Order: sequence, then structure tokens, then C-alpha cells
Amino acid sequence: MKKILITGGAGFIGSHVVRLFVTKYSNYQIYNLDALTYAGNLENLVDIENASNYTFIKGDISDEQFISSLFQKHQFDGVINLAAESHVDRSIEDPMAFVKTNVIGTVNLLNASRAIWGDNYEGKRFYHISTDEVYGSLGAEGLFTETTAYDPNSPYSASKASSDHFVRAYGETYGLPYVLTNCSNNYGPNHFPEKLIPLFINNIINHKPLPVYGDGNYTRDWLFVVDHARAIDMVFHQGVNHETYNIGGFNEWKNIDLVRLLCGIMDVKLEREAGESEKLITYVKDRPGHDLRYAIDASKIKEKLGWEPSVTFEQGLELTVNWYLNNTDWLKNVTSGAYASYYDKQYKEVRS
Ligand code: NAD
Ligand code: TYD
Repeated sequence: MKKILITGGAGFIGSHVVRLFVTKYSNYQIYNLDALTYAGNLENLVDIENASNYTFIKGDISDEQFISSLFQKHQFDGVINLAAESHVDRSIEDPMAFVKTNVIGTVNLLNASRAIWGDNYEGKRFYHISTDEVYGSLGAEGLFTETTAYDPNSPYSASKASSDHFVRAYGETYGLPYVLTNCSNNYGPNHFPEKLIPLFINNIINHKPLPVYGDGNYTRDWLFVVDHARAIDMVFHQGVNHETYNIGGFNEWKNIDLVRLLCGIMDVKLEREAGESEKLITYVKDRPGHDLRYAIDASKIKEKLGWEPSVTFEQGLELTVNWYLNNTDWLKNVTSGAYASYYDKQYKEVRS
């Protein structure tokens, strides 16, 4: 039986990856290591929490001593690293938290993997999950490929870029068998409502303003989270050591167009008059260093591993909206407590 450590498995993407691995691979013992920060939520995994091949461990990847003894104890065969501070706006307020988890935490995992694997890398694999944001910003044209130079602009993307470099360096220097993926913006169930889509769904439900940064003409490439989890499964099992794969949705949207589409879907679902949710759109002060456009060329993973998204954006958004409307307790739980003070601070202009 293989022992696989998934870090950050109580978060948005991590919970979908944990569910996929626990249900698909009964021959694996899956260990979910998560510090349960504001973004981690064990409610995301209630359906599989009692599975016999699943173990949850609460702990911090930036704690060197703890990570070292955990690896010695369990002798993991594989590591899938999703634990991270993941929100750009929070990184602007508190960059050090991002250095601690994203950089130091990743290096701790690399060191602990080396320590237990020694020089025998047979059947071992370190998989680091990263973002397209490390490539910086595109103009109106072009796509990020696996060879695009790193050019991060936010403390978040700089910390992710740094962790990616460490992973590559451990591959080059110590021969550590790694794979790395850089994915575009995800959306779907269990997404914490600080990011654009779940924040706006929650605000529409509650008749609150929809704070669009700047002129709203920023572009992102959106991928349904379940399709990201499928890609992670494929890369973990079929990816070539020391290679990077870009993952994207072939699905670019200007923020303002996406928000209008979402408003239309919400009007129908909530049986509100057409155009009612759009009235909530409020343009607010721009995010500092806001990247204009991200767009991924995902042809490598498509051609080499046969991966492509399984749902269209319209289908994925519908599934997402339905999930939030059917899980109002989840939304209420995550938006109680500390969320309110974060919201008040971040959205001073539209506090209501
Ligand atoms: P998330 O913020 O929803 O979840 C992060 C998880 O990591 C949480 O459960 C949190 O408790 C845990 N965590 C944070 N610090 C930790 C620490 N020090 N030790 C252990 N656990 C810790 O993030 P997400 O959106 O699920 O992103 C997961 C990964 O995917 C991140 O590495 C992120 O950079 C990457 N990514 C995200 C997106 C996206 O659109 N969300 C896109 C591309 C890549
Ligand atoms: P976000 O979901 O934070 O993801 P990222 O910054 O990692 O791409 O933001 C997506 C886009 O939406 C980005 O261009 C910033 C914008 N945005 C808003 O206009 N208003 C908001 O309240 C938020 C959270 C994001």
C-alpha cells in the first residue's frame, strides 16, 4: 500500500484532490496534512472522513521539526503539496505569512522528502502545485507556456515562484523526482468567499454590493476545480519527472463580463427580476499591482497526457451556483467570525 501525503487537503482545491484520491485509489493510504487556517475547513470532507484509507493530520508545513518527524514516522512514498496562503489581497497586507507557508513550508517538505528517500527514488514522487500567476501579466495577446519566464508581480505570486524554483533546484541538485503544474484560476464548490466568484455569489444572495476592482477589464482563464483535480491525478501518475505542465480552462473572461454572466444566472436561480443583481455592481479602487491578463496554453498536458476540461464554463458555473444555494450552512459557517473583520477592512468603500 502506497502512502501519499496531500498537504492543504482541507482547502478549496485540496479537498477535491483528497476526495478523488481516497475514492479512486483504495490501494493508497491518503494522509491529509492541513493547518486549518481560515481557509481550511474539514466540513469540505465530511463525505469521506471515515474512509479506511484516509487520515487527517493537523499541522503546519512551516514547522521544520514537526514535518521532519512526521515524515520519519510515516515514510511517505509521494507528496502532493497544495498547502499555501492563496489570496493575492491578503498577500498585499501580510507578505511574511506567504513567505512562511509558501516558501519555507515547501522547502521543509523538500528536505523531509530527501531525508526519508535517501538516494533511492524508486516509486517516489514530489508534486508541487503552483499557479499561472508566477508568469506575471500578459498584454492583450499571447499565452503562458511552460517556457515563459517567471515575472511575478504580487507577494503571493513571488512566494509561489520562489517555491517553484526551490522544487526545480532540488530536482537539478539532488535528483529529487518532482513534477510541477501551473494552473489558471479555479472555481467551483467549497471555494472560500474571498475570491471573486464565491464572494460575488454570496453578496448577490445577501443583496450586497459587488466590488469590481478598477474598470473590470482584467482577464482571467477559469477552470472548474474538479477538472483541476483530474489533471493533478493524471500528472501525479503519468507526468514525466522534472517536467512542468500548464493547466488551464481554454476559457478567458474579462471580469466584468463574467460578473454580468453570473448576475444573470443568479437572477434566474433566485427568481429575481432580470437585471436585479447587475444593479449591485460597484466599481471600487483597484488592487495595487493588478495583473491585466492571465491566459494559459494547456496544449502540452492535452497532447502528452490526454487531459482536457470535462465541463464548459456555463455548466461549471451552474453547478457552482447550485452548490452554494444548496449549502447555505457552509457559507454561513465560513462567513461568521473572522470573515466579517476581513471584509470590513478589505472593502471599506462598499461596506454595507
Ligand atoms: P486555499 O486557500 O483554499 O487552501 C489552502 C489550504 O492550505 C487550507 O486548507 C489551509 O488551511 C492550508 N494551509 C495554509 N497554510 C498552511 C500551513 N502552513 N501548513 C499546512 N496547511 C496550511 O487554497 P486553494 O485555492 O485550494 O489552493 C491550493 C493550491 O493551489 C495553492 O498552492 C495555490 O497556490 C494553488 N493554486 C490555486 C489556484 C486557485 O485558483 N485557487 C489556481 C492555481 C493554483
Ligand atoms: P481573485 O479571485 O482574487 O483571483 P486572482 O487575483 O488570483 O486572479 O480575483 C480574480 C479577478 O477578480 C482579479 O482580476 C481581481 C478581481 N476581483 C475583483 O474585481 N473584486 C474582488 O472583490 C475580488 C476578490 C477580485
